[in-house]
Amino acid sequence: MPTKVEKDSLTGTETTGHEWDGIKELNTPLPKWWLYTFYATIVFSVIWWILYPAWPSLTGYTPGILGSNQRLEVQQRLAEARAKQQVWLDKIAAKSPAEIKADPELARFALVGGAAAFGTNCAPCHGVGGAGQGFFPALVDDDWIWGGTLEAIETTIRHGIRNADDPEARTSAMPAFGADGILDRGQIRDVAQFVLGLSGSAADKAAAERGAPLYAENCASCHGEAGEGNPDLGAPNLKDSIWLYGGTAEKIEAQIWRPRLGVMPPWQGRLPEETIKMLTVYVHALGGGQ
Ligand code: HEC
Ligand code: HEC
Repeated sequence: MPTKVEKDSLTGTETTGHEWDGIKELNTPLPKWWLYTFYATIVFSVIWWILYPAWPSLTGYTPGILGSNQRLEVQQRLAEARAKQQVWLDKIAAKSPAEIKADPELARFALVGGAAAFGTNCAPCHGVGGAGQGFFPALVDDDWIWGGTLEAIETTIRHGIRNADDPEARTSAMPAFGADGILDRGQIRDVAQFVLGLSGSAADKAAAERGAPLYAENCASCHGEAGEGNPDLGAPNLKDSIWLYGGTAEKIEAQIWRPRLGVMPPWQGRLPEETIKMLTVYVHALGGGQ
């Protein structure tokens, strides 16, 4: 190994002293710009360690003298957002659904909040966006079993329907005409044909004619002379071709034999006041509210 520094005659660069088969390794220095940038990054990192959280330790991490903490910042920002929301929620809590609907800004907030609350609490039964499914009524049409005014909708949401939890729940029971022996099978078949005719569906004329007096006697008190329904009794409109339990003869006969009597839970006490009001405004806006 040669000890004295040797210079390559072609490039004028020092060699490292390594040599293989007459080929010598040049000791080319790092470019100055690269070297100073490298030093600068080292200085930068040291300053960073001092100012900001950097090194993990057994019990936590070095916090840095600026006390910067992004988790705290996120928490603060969330708290600020909540405080801003609270201003709106307080306003909503202090107003009636009608007043909320009349105030464009509040109404917009209520529609968004109502939609979110509907998605979690109501959509499992009433379908996404209130489209209805199975035996759960659609809320997007303007056919209302219990009334479509803001007040009626609010009452329905607060107290629910035919549940055992709320003494103020809406109740009304269509009699089980078949199961309780009020009408026989033939009469039920006839009155079902009459009901089919009410909505303009194809019906057996003779049977419907036999069913007409049965309807007037047993059904009109709740569903109305012409089948227009009665929201005070939760008796659905029977002539609008919107069926909760199906509009075929078999389905209608089944309902007359033993009504299903749908149940909805009460929400007062389970959801905050302002959520109930936002839901009222939202549901009212869904289908043609009255
Ligand atoms: C467990 C199922 C269920 C849940 C959850 C539910 N509902 Fe209902 N809802 C029903 C049933 C069943 C009816 C119809 C009852 C009847 O009259 O036969 C109904 C009826 C209604 C009506 C009356 C519709 C009309 O035509 O008059 C409104 C309004 C309503 N629900 C709103 C809501 C809102 C808002 C929520 C969420 C906070 C909700 N429901 C959650 C089952 C449910
Ligand atoms: C005491 C009031 C009352 C009487 C009387 C009554 N109903 Fe009903 N009817 C209701 C109620 C309330 C509902 C909805 C209840 C439910 O969820 O089962 C209903 C629902 C129906 C439905 C289902 C409508 C749909 O959209 O699917 C049909 C059909 C019907 N009734 C026919 C009759 C016929 C026919 C008679 C007479 C034989 C009759 N009802 C008598 C109160 C009444």
